Amino acid sequence: MKVYQELLEQAFKATRLSYAPYSRFRVGAALLTEDGAVVTGCNVENASYGLSNCAERTAVFKAVSIGKRRFKAIAVVSNRRNPVYPCGACRQVLREFNKDITIVVANRRGRVMKTSLSKLLPKSFGPEDLGRRRRG
Ligand code: THU
Repeated sequence: MKVYQELLEQAFKATRLSYAPYSRFRVGAALLTEDGAVVTGCNVENASYGLSNCAERTAVFKAVSIGKRRFKAIAVVSNRRNPVYPCGACRQVLREFNKDITIVVANRRGRVMKTSLSKLLPKSFGPEDLGRRRRG
């Protein structure tokens, strides 16, 4: 679908801004919001390795910090041949805002693969489990 191709293209552009001097694994993400905006993110590493932040979380935190919380899809790409799917931590962060967000990845040959968060993170824990409506 064209919208996913475009999202992947934005994610690919974001890999160029990746700060990954330690892993050299550049990742870009592009988050599609319900109002049609695209918020990108890249991984940001740190000399204290454990503080590195993934591209997906960068995108989510950027979006929330500009007042956007309703997400439809996220595209993720890296500078490697194989597709990259969000790590466990990022799945949980995405889940906070949409437990069934569409996830789009591609390999370097342009093969697009679409899945959903509920497939990647089934029986997940989220705000509803705390038993109250979220306002934030
Ligand atoms: N990384 C991401 O940005 N997203 C993922 O889905 C997987 C991992 C980053 C974190 C780190 O900077 C580098 O890739 C190697 O793990």
